[in-house]
Amino acid sequence: MIEALYISMTIIERFLQDHAIFRKHLADTLALARDLSDQATAPAVSDDDRAFAHKLRRHARMEAELLFPAMQRASSEKDRHETVQRYIRHGNDEHHSVAKRQAELHAYSGGVQLSQWRTTLNDFADGLNRHIDLEENEIFPLAQELLSPALLTELNQKADLVA
Ligand SMILES: [Fe+2]
Ligand SMILES: [Fe+2]
Repeated sequence: MIEALYISMTIIERFLQDHAIFRKHLADTLALARDLSDQATAPAVSDDDRAFAHKLRRHARMEAELLFPAMQRASSEKDRHETVQRYIRHGNDEHHSVAKRQAELHAYSGGVQLSQWRTTLNDFADGLNRHIDLEENEIFPLAQELLSPALLTELNQKADLVA
């Protein structure tokens, strides 16, 4: 994706595009896992897997370093502030557990234990899909209530600077 296309986009639109890419990669990997014979070894980590892992880490950093703090700053009213805090804690916890499961998946990749790789892949895919659904159904709508389109666009420009 050419970075210039992001310029007039909000950070939420960028995240939704990333989520679509993540869902597709998970679906493709689950299909690969189904098609392998039970006698096969677990597939090695591919260049696509590595690019996916990098994009996922960068995406989580953009959420944790840009979107979540902006939501915290914008929610001064007490009840609202607690809701935001709860979501953000949950979002950050899930980023850690998703990263841990992904590291486990890579550790089983290329090994002889196909069944272990399949189980770890299923756990990883379930966890990431659940996380993405929660963001899309609850966290992003709340962000759009709290933050103006202009600010969400500005956050997207800052996101380019996240490594
Ligand atoms: Fe996330
Ligand atoms: Fe996300």
